[in-house]
Amino acid sequence: MKRYGNIVGWGKYVPSRVITNADLEKTLDTSDEWIVARTGIRERHVAARGETTSSMSILASQMALDKAGISPQDLDLIIIASSSPDYLTPPVSSQVQHGLGAYKAAAFTLVTGCTGFIYALSTAQQFIASGTYDTVLVVGAELLSRFIDWTDRSTGVLFGDGAGAVVLKATHTPCGILACILGSDGSGANHLILPAGGSAHPPSLETLERNMHTLRMNGREVFKFATRILGEALRQVIRQAGLKTQDIDLFIPHQANIRIIQSAAKFAGLPEDRVFINIQKYGNTSAASIPIALTEAMDEGRATVGSTLAFVAFGAGLTWASAVVRIGQPENSRPL
Ligand code: ACO
Repeated sequence: MKRYGNIVGWGKYVPSRVITNADLEKTLDTSDEWIVARTGIRERHVAARGETTSSMSILASQMALDKAGISPQDLDLIIIASSSPDYLTPPVSSQVQHGLGAYKAAAFTLVTGCTGFIYALSTAQQFIASGTYDTVLVVGAELLSRFIDWTDRSTGVLFGDGAGAVVLKATHTPCGILACILGSDGSGANHLILPAGGSAHPPSLETLERNMHTLRMNGREVFKFATRILGEALRQVIRQAGLKTQDIDLFIPHQANIRIIQSAAKFAGLPEDRVFINIQKYGNTSAASIPIALTEAMDEGRATVGSTLAFVAFGAGLTWASAVVRIGQPENSRPL
């Protein structure tokens, strides 16, 4: 009998400190008007000194586990999607596993930039479908403010920190991921890159002097790539799920740029009232943006049990991913 991974819990955490566009106007040659018109962003949340990717992940996860009524000890697997972990090693997933007290769970970290959450969700679904695991925690978490050059207006206005989490539970009722498309085009690697700190350019005096430890982005190229790929990835995944655009109750895209979101929705024929947008509050939180948006959509009643959702994202790699997800009845997700 076929097995599905139902989303039975969701949670988010964003740091309390807010940086508005007006704040950025004081230090950068930019304006609220430019940022809002070109990106849709009005403010972003930035982590405090003691906060880390693991601490934010733990808080979002605890909220998702509480919502699901599942104890950390019942988790079989934890997958963290993040490009900004606490350390290169150990993996942030093990820190989260320990912090939650999820002693039975296997844990790993997955790095595909902003598409990480959909990649991780799809991976979790494979473990559930194969019968390997019943209960999986998937987290998207980023603390990109520590990897941004705050004197560079081309990236400094875009990103924010936060974490979002979901709990998947095995069920025989068709729900969870109904279709998924994952893609990668490594030829675009240099369009979005953190040049130093890895084995290609380990930390040195030279990498510090050349400011190679912060994110570099060719915004125009990433924008072109995203507008080319997102609408198509969305249309394809809806077709793959055997559905039509009108069957999608809510489109929850990666929140990188409002113009990119609008162009993808238009391409796929999704009206504005079925598109979830919260970029104005958080900026681009990379792998955290879709689970944060999903949590808000569920909490605000824009998505409910029974809703059919479409996710789509693009990011570093360059990568892209889309998924059609149905939120099933939690009671259908009793242990099999
Ligand atoms: N404030 C004011 N002016 C600015 C700013 C700023 N913050 N940033 C750039 N400009 C200027 C540029 O210098 C340029 O000036 P010029 O015409 O005199 O040369 C002008 O504004 C237009 O610049 P463009 O780069 O053409 O502006 P564009 O409309 O493409 O918007 C943006 C830039 C917002 C970065 C857009 O290209 C974009 O959103 N790209 C995608 C970026 C993205 O989503 N990255 C995340 C990927 S996901 C991940 O994995 C992390």
